[in-house]
Amino acid sequence: MKENNKNITRRSFLETTGAVAAGFTILPGSVISGLGKRAPSDKLNIAVVGIGGMGNSNLKAVKGTENIVALCDVDWAYSKNVFAENPDAKAYWDWRKMYDEMGKSIDAVIVATADHSHAIIAATAMTLGKHVYVQKPLTHTVYESRLLTRLAAKYKVATQMGNQGSSAEGVNLTKEWIQNGEIGDIRKVEAFTDRPIWPQGLNVPKGEWVPDTLNWDLFIGPTKMRPYNSLYTPWNWRGWWDFGTGALGDMACHILHPVFKSLRLQYPIKAQGSSTLLLTDCAPNAQMVKLTYPERVAPKGSKIKYPQLEVVWYDGGLQPPKPNGWPAGKNMNNNGGGVLFHGSKDILICGCYGRDPWLLSGRVPVVPKTERRVEVSHEMDWVRACKESPENRIPTKSDFSEAGPFNEMVVMGVLAVRLQGLNKELEWNGEKMEFTNISDTDQVRLTISDNFTIIDGDPKFDRPNINMNAKAFANEMVRHTYRQGWSLPDMPA
Ligand SMILES: NC(=O)c1ccc[n+]([C@@H]2O[C@H](COP(=O)([O-])OP(=O)(O)OC[C@H]3O[C@@H](n4cnc5c(N)ncnc54)[C@H](O)[C@@H]3O)[C@@H](O)[C@H]2O)c1
Repeated sequence: MKENNKNITRRSFLETTGAVAAGFTILPGSVISGLGKRAPSDKLNIAVVGIGGMGNSNLKAVKGTENIVALCDVDWAYSKNVFAENPDAKAYWDWRKMYDEMGKSIDAVIVATADHSHAIIAATAMTLGKHVYVQKPLTHTVYESRLLTRLAAKYKVATQMGNQGSSAEGVNLTKEWIQNGEIGDIRKVEAFTDRPIWPQGLNVPKGEWVPDTLNWDLFIGPTKMRPYNSLYTPWNWRGWWDFGTGALGDMACHILHPVFKSLRLQYPIKAQGSSTLLLTDCAPNAQMVKLTYPERVAPKGSKIKYPQLEVVWYDGGLQPPKPNGWPAGKNMNNNGGGVLFHGSKDILICGCYGRDPWLLSGRVPVVPKTERRVEVSHEMDWVRACKESPENRIPTKSDFSEAGPFNEMVVMGVLAVRLQGLNKELEWNGEKMEFTNISDTDQVRLTISDNFTIIDGDPKFDRPNINMNAKAFANEMVRHTYRQGWSLPDMPA
């Protein structure tokens, strides 16, 4: 069938110009479209790294309109069905090989691997000029968040963190109500999640044989090697510090996003954490974190002030105390968690993803809609941004210019919990990415394992400890030393 010019697709353009015959089967959009702007009807060539779980949901959200040209996963048993459902996409074990072989034809990459490998996969893609959609939490460390933020600005690519609630109505309404002054000035926020729903608080398991269908070395990627056990992957990696970020890292990107956005947060100045038994390798069953933010400058015409703020986080089943006037019998948990914004005039409560905001007074605010609404989906809003030129691009709802600093807030919670043994409120210099009140000689004690046994009816407690230099431990958590052979691109100035 002959196509008219208006409907001509990139593939048919290539075919009619003979590019296919010349060996260039698929070219990236930037080559075809010159300055980066593309017609919305022009399809992106998308690669997905980490397809067995959430990556497949993200893939399905873009598959209807875009080309899925390559898929990469380290576990070909867990991902079997996704490979089978996408026979046109080239299948890879190693994202580095995929970038080498198909880099020229890929426009954009979705990253949905375990948290510890997000940064290296996304950062490398950006230096190749690829747009990236990266699952939450954006990265495992503060340094990696800063790096992705700066690389996104340098390479002018379209970015989106996968906290899909940011494209939904709850976050819009929460921000609009707060910034319209409906609850006054806010000095305290409390938030919680009902997670973990995966195992935490565990001792390091013994090694097992690696299944033939899994490339354990590639799963480990930049972090330090450890013997394989089926407890680690898929999915349960969340509870292991080397791979995941515990309940807070998993859920705070959804739950705290309306807080970060509505209250114009940047870097915290203080952090403190506590938890149930803290182990060296596995996240604790329940945690509490307090982050303090300095007063922020209100923009011109602002209806509220932004005074110093305390954000208090609970997880593992703990919740903030119910405020006076809480409707008896009403569950605070809405879709996995909730937030209470304590304002000078009222309290605003919303669920996970900013869902269903309401005021404790029962008043229903009517305020102008100032936030952009996303019509199709979080993923398709990113696709839209990928096709716009950098100069005229409307940022996505979780563009890295915001998601990067926001993710630093989330991973700061992990730092606060893991450094709780210092028994002091940590002071943080966000610009420099360093704690200012940990001395060179401070030590932090961690428990290696929890070995409770009953011998002849007698309970025996055995919790071997390790003492670490606190500064070195903190620095390593702020910026990981990558395993030999794995490295991040340099931090742009
Ligand atoms: N936005 C959301 O609502 C949401 C929901 C679930 C998960 N997530 C996020 O998505 C990411 C993945 O979580 P999940 O639940 O899908 O985990 P999962 O373990 O179920 O899936 C991760 C997939 O990535 C693969 N993988 C791991 N390392 C890889 C590597 N280096 N290269 C290629 N493939 C690799 C695994 O084999 C697996 O197939 C996490 O960051 C998680 O926090 C987000």
